[in-house]
Amino acid sequence: MAKALSEILAEEVRAALTAVVGEAARGADPLIRPSDHADFQANGVLPLAKAVKGNPRELATRVAAALPTSGVIAAVEVAGPGFLNLTLADSALAAQTAERLGDARLGVAPTGVGQTTVIDYSQPNIAKEMHVGHLRSTVIGDALVRLLEFDGRTVVRQNHLGDWGTQFGMLIQFLVEHPGDRLSGAEHSGEVAISWLTDLYRDARAKFDGDPEFADRARKRVVTLQGGDAESLAAWEEMVAESKRYFEDVYARLDVRLVDADAVGESFYNPFLAEVAADLEERGVAVWSNGALCVFFDGVLGPDGEPVPLIVRKSDGGFGYAATDLAAIRYRVDTLKADQILYVVDSRQALHFRMVFETARRAGYLPDGVEAVHVQFGSVLGKDGKPFKTRAGQTVRLIELLDSAVDHAVATVAEKNPDLDAEQARAEARVVGIGAVKYADLSTSRTKDYIFDLDRMVSLNGNTSVYLQYAHARIHSILRKLPAGTVARVHPGTALEPAERRLALHLDEFGATLAAVAAEFEPHRLATYLYTLAQTFSDFYENCPVVKAPSDEVRENRAALVRLTADTLKLGLELLGISAPDQL
Ligand code: ARG
Repeated sequence: MAKALSEILAEEVRAALTAVVGEAARGADPLIRPSDHADFQANGVLPLAKAVKGNPRELATRVAAALPTSGVIAAVEVAGPGFLNLTLADSALAAQTAERLGDARLGVAPTGVGQTTVIDYSQPNIAKEMHVGHLRSTVIGDALVRLLEFDGRTVVRQNHLGDWGTQFGMLIQFLVEHPGDRLSGAEHSGEVAISWLTDLYRDARAKFDGDPEFADRARKRVVTLQGGDAESLAAWEEMVAESKRYFEDVYARLDVRLVDADAVGESFYNPFLAEVAADLEERGVAVWSNGALCVFFDGVLGPDGEPVPLIVRKSDGGFGYAATDLAAIRYRVDTLKADQILYVVDSRQALHFRMVFETARRAGYLPDGVEAVHVQFGSVLGKDGKPFKTRAGQTVRLIELLDSAVDHAVATVAEKNPDLDAEQARAEARVVGIGAVKYADLSTSRTKDYIFDLDRMVSLNGNTSVYLQYAHARIHSILRKLPAGTVARVHPGTALEPAERRLALHLDEFGATLAAVAAEFEPHRLATYLYTLAQTFSDFYENCPVVKAPSDEVRENRAALVRLTADTLKLGLELLGISAPDQL
């Protein structure tokens, strides 16, 4: 497995710093950065000179002399007040390319082997349409699953479905009183299922709001459901099954890895709630206040200045969202053996998770060695900058939205390749359109809001998946055009052009980029890396002919860079959940 050259440089510079100033430099960061004057610049001498009260320029000169220039480093130059400009040996670049090329992991070492991440994502609610917030959670969660698995971790997916709560009393009561409204058992699509559920929800709600006697029966129904009454459970199960049919339809269109076995909804934790509440009370973590069992926090106050508690048990005796999350933490730590628990949920729930994590720490459910992270994200906005809604102010139907992304992509695909027949165009548009929706989400910094604009998403220009997918396909077409018998192979003795060096160096940073993405849960950094890679490749291809290279050796060397670029783009996009066909 190959370390990045920037990492190797950091080690060499740190060793030289230590040789010159001794112990004071041992933990120091050599601050290796890309440079316009050389391949890299090391800025770490300045802070160290300050610490040991030495002259930075003089110190830099001594460090430069202590750096070996017969291996990875070809030349060192002291610049400015005490920077080191570092130029790498062509042979070092060649060795890196050779080591990555042809390796299934492109030379990237897994760092998380033996560790378990539990990831809570997607989390739609039963009997309700998924909204764009669920889309974000699903897309970001799926990318993180792929990235963390690639990093060697065991990843346990948990789809924390909203499948419990008092609203089910109303829905079940309505269903029981209107048996004729049931959907037949015959095969039907997720779309049919969700439209039935939406109508049911609307009708039940109207009746609940307009008919106090019905509302009363609905409230009693909650109690019979919780008591395990067979008729109530059967109706509930029917709604769960129909909802899953719809969710699975959405997941299949999105090509995400969630399956039925990952669905561990809120109802799963019902049997544990009373015990969790009793345990929190016994430990003194939760106290009774105004009839409710609450946990209080320093500095968490409402607009009225009164403390805002986390409510474990409501004054009517019922358990809510928070109790379920506390029981889930115990299950994830004790049974699923998590070292890390991720919650891919929108930023508006930040306070909820802060309180839940803090409570779990106090109660010992979350031991020191286990990390819990709210991987939060911003909102999806319409072109008017307001929360994304239909003109009539309703939630946008997700299936329709994905269909329209594919429709938009048909035009892009046809523009690029007018000879495609309708069926082929449609198939390619599915890959392009769905990729575009995912990429638009993943390429913006997670915590920011973004505007849902299909025209921009499927554009061939700019930082879009469409641009990257076509760049990848074009690179494959270059490989197909190589004279017969050309092998993509590194010739270590060949001198490299500046554009070749830039491309080789950027390719070499793939592993370090993935490590940063996995550590910070920031897929957008991978998107930026891939976009820069495609641009660096364009620059290389303009300056360094491949098919018409000056010699066979240079051609094979360049073919190696072309091949590695294609493989890096493909793997990078795949880790974001986006497919990149070799031909488009
Ligand atoms: N179902 C919730 C919603 O739609 C999100 C659940 C988030 N996950 C959790 N463990 N609380 O807002």
